[in-house]
Amino acid sequence: MDMTKRPRRLRGGMTLRKMVRETRMDKASLIYPMFVVEGEGVRREIPSMPGQYHYSLDMLPAALEEVARSGVSSVMLFGIPEKKDEMGSSAWAADGIIQRALETGKRAVPELYYITDVCMCEYTSHGHCGALCGHDVDNDRTLPLLARTALSHVQAGADMVAPSDMMDGRVAAIRRILDENGYTETPIMSYAVKYASAFYGPFREAADSAPAFGDRKTYQMDYHNAKEGIKEALLDVEEGADLVMVKPALSYLDVIRRVSEKVHVPVAAYSVSGEYAMIKAAAVKGWIDEAAVVCEAATSVYRAGAGVLLTYYAKELAKFMDEGRIG
Ligand code: PBG
Repeated sequence: MDMTKRPRRLRGGMTLRKMVRETRMDKASLIYPMFVVEGEGVRREIPSMPGQYHYSLDMLPAALEEVARSGVSSVMLFGIPEKKDEMGSSAWAADGIIQRALETGKRAVPELYYITDVCMCEYTSHGHCGALCGHDVDNDRTLPLLARTALSHVQAGADMVAPSDMMDGRVAAIRRILDENGYTETPIMSYAVKYASAFYGPFREAADSAPAFGDRKTYQMDYHNAKEGIKEALLDVEEGADLVMVKPALSYLDVIRRVSEKVHVPVAAYSVSGEYAMIKAAAVKGWIDEAAVVCEAATSVYRAGAGVLLTYYAKELAKFMDEGRIG
């Protein structure tokens, strides 16, 4: 056979395959999302997310230590308060669940980097991501509430805040209040390109944050649109976002690619609860090789252009990266 170009030549052995990999990953880029609840002695598995738990404050340090031991260096904290009200006022309470979780976590495991999700939906009685005006969220009335919440997180020790509400102008509002209070060095990672997605289903059960009526389509994006994602990302960068996120991940690899080519800030992707649940469920059934699928799916997100990955599989991925299985 007269053939000078043989692509298989570079696939001949593991050493060579690893040498010529186009996608490099590092466990420093992984962020592990965790759910904190009120109560004592709670370490309760989330039914639709086997292997993920609700932790009360006393159980949090052990869980954080496990994260640090796995080699993952950052966590994203979600709080589930005991009391919800119309405005979501426990979101910014100095003794709110996230604020206390930060104090507990920073004291017990200071080596971790603490990011907090800034949103109202876990804290409002109606489950929407802001203050209501009739049956829709009032954008401009929500901005000060989000800003206040972000500030209270940073005052309680958050290293970075991540607004996930999708209100227009919230990055600017948060940047302004942080700067006014002297937190000029605290970065903002905006959930810039966040789609109205059915893949959040298990999370909403976990966070008890499903909207009591309607849906989130007046603020989260329509999944038919990709150009609009670039608009959202560019706007957030202009408003002061230090990182921008695309969410979900797997069904939006094209969006990750396009956004990463347009912005000059790091792009994160959030592999959400439904993505985790699908892999987990098929794995539990014995229908797929869980580790292999987790590696392949995560690598595809980086290959698409993400530099940071939020995933419920972060601890496992850190191990796979250490082993050289991926990365
Ligand atoms: C809060 C928020 C949601 C997620 C992250 N932050 C839910 C939503 O927007 O309904 C989803 C995360 C996941 O599904 O893993 N607004």
